[in-house]
Amino acid sequence: MAYSEKVVDHYENPRNVGSFDKGDDSVGTGMVGAPACGDVMKLQIKVNPATGVIEDARFKTYGCGSAIASSSLVTEWVKGKTLEQAAALKNSEIAEELALPPVKIHCSILAEDAIKAAVQDYKKKHTH
Ligand code: FES
Ligand code: FES
Repeated sequence: MAYSEKVVDHYENPRNVGSFDKGDDSVGTGMVGAPACGDVMKLQIKVNPATGVIEDARFKTYGCGSAIASSSLVTEWVKGKTLEQAAALKNSEIAEELALPPVKIHCSILAEDAIKAAVQDYKKKHTH
């Protein structure tokens, strides 16, 4: 299948690959799987506890090119955003930016689910 230029760019030069220490208090981890294809995505955010702003992000994705591109894009987008802004990110924005075809929409949903899960995980650690 033909991938868009932006997908190929993120696939060949993925941004922010790697991971943070899950136990770190300033880290939120989201781990999600796509039942349709078995792909797995881990997305992590590093948050400034004083401001609630995401300072850094990492991902590891075992999946197709669109899933890798979606997670790479999300790690770029969430930097500098608040937790609320990050959690409000829509898969349609990802799909549009990467020009994903309909059969690859679930790959962008995976990225939306992963960032939401990461925000949730961070918040769970900081319920005072
Ligand atoms: Fe699994 Fe996309 S179908 S890699
Ligand atoms: Fe399943 Fe892309 S084909 S995440």
